[in-house]
Amino acid sequence: MTLTPTKADKFSFGLWTIGYNGADPFGGPTRSALDVVHGVEKLAEAGAYGLTFHDDDLFAFGSTDAERQKQIDRLKQAMADTGIVVPMVTTNLFSAPVFKDGGFTSNDRDVRRFALRKVLRNVDLAAELGAKTFVMWGGREGAEYDTAKDVQAALSRYREAVNLLGDYVTDKGYDIRFAIEPKPNEPRGDILLPTLGHALAFIESLERPELVGVNPEVGHEQMAGLNFTAGIAQALYHGKLFHIDLNGQRSIKYDQDLVFGHGDLHNAFSLVDLLEHGAPEGGQAYTGPRHFDYKPSRTEDEQGVWDSVSANMQTYLLLKERAQAFRADPEVQEALATAKVAELRTPTLNEGESYDDLLADRRAYEDFDANAYLDGKGFGFVRLQQLATEHLLGARS
Ligand code: GCO
Ligand code: MN
Ligand code: MN
Repeated sequence: MTLTPTKADKFSFGLWTIGYNGADPFGGPTRSALDVVHGVEKLAEAGAYGLTFHDDDLFAFGSTDAERQKQIDRLKQAMADTGIVVPMVTTNLFSAPVFKDGGFTSNDRDVRRFALRKVLRNVDLAAELGAKTFVMWGGREGAEYDTAKDVQAALSRYREAVNLLGDYVTDKGYDIRFAIEPKPNEPRGDILLPTLGHALAFIESLERPELVGVNPEVGHEQMAGLNFTAGIAQALYHGKLFHIDLNGQRSIKYDQDLVFGHGDLHNAFSLVDLLEHGAPEGGQAYTGPRHFDYKPSRTEDEQGVWDSVSANMQTYLLLKERAQAFRADPEVQEALATAKVAELRTPTLNEGESYDDLLADRRAYEDFDANAYLDGKGFGFVRLQQLATEHLLGARS
């Protein structure tokens, strides 16, 4: 396998990621603004296949129609020149002062109507550019103070907004699905739909749940102390993994948006293994874009930005190679068998077996030797994880 990224790998990057100028709450930009055409050319050169963006990344908030159109045309030309596609589009409902209390769930009804109009306009653009996924990250949908937000009313307004968007794409005949991106906090003290689980439950309450899935981000689940790979497995289980944001995070702290793998490397390894080999019958469990939502650190100059773009893709491909080697290793296969990993796929009851049959099965209870599990019958999970670690470190081929 090759470690040089190609379009077939489906690597995509947010315009706000490569365009991040280094500004944080404690200091201003350390890099100048990035032009979208230059960004698209550099991504194509690096082997990516896609660019994603918020409306305001491409044309500043408050742009005139002419300014907006000029930027759209420039992007389209760059796409035609490089073959870069736009698989996903998203809306900025968090930067402008008008969204200080959120968009879909602002306490101010006029703001909610404005937010909906902004999103509908951007959905039209997404369809025009051929995007199949529309991400909704509600960074400002939340509160700092419990007294300030009626959470049940906010969920109703969120639901109202997403239902309207579902009607809109259906009536317009757009081939677009929505993906909700959970995050526990930052910029709000607490954000609505803070984790994957919250989002999955919310989606089931919608009028068109089939149109809505999730866009989980590595760092966001890890900010909540959760296991990202396990969360992705559950999203896949429910058929809801519509998109994914790959990056790195080191433990529970502010959203670091590091390069993929520059955080919890073991979890990144199991994630790539799951995405690439985790389908029920083996093979790719997720075929959508491998989208990187990271921030090139503000210590870097422009060369550092493109180095970090390559680092994301390189790390993904290395982990894919390591995961393949792990799966192919006979010692690993033996350890997996000892650990009974595949046995979990066998239903606990026999086909057609009732609880009466189970109650009548003496081997299941009366004759079952539960004591054999004291001082025996270890699963060997540690040995299995050490084998994974050795593969991860390149100590086995
Ligand atoms: C963040 C989020 C965003 C979203 C983006 C797409 O924590 O800042 O991850 O980067 O992914 O707004 O909707
Ligand atoms: Mn993030
Ligand atoms: Mn994200």
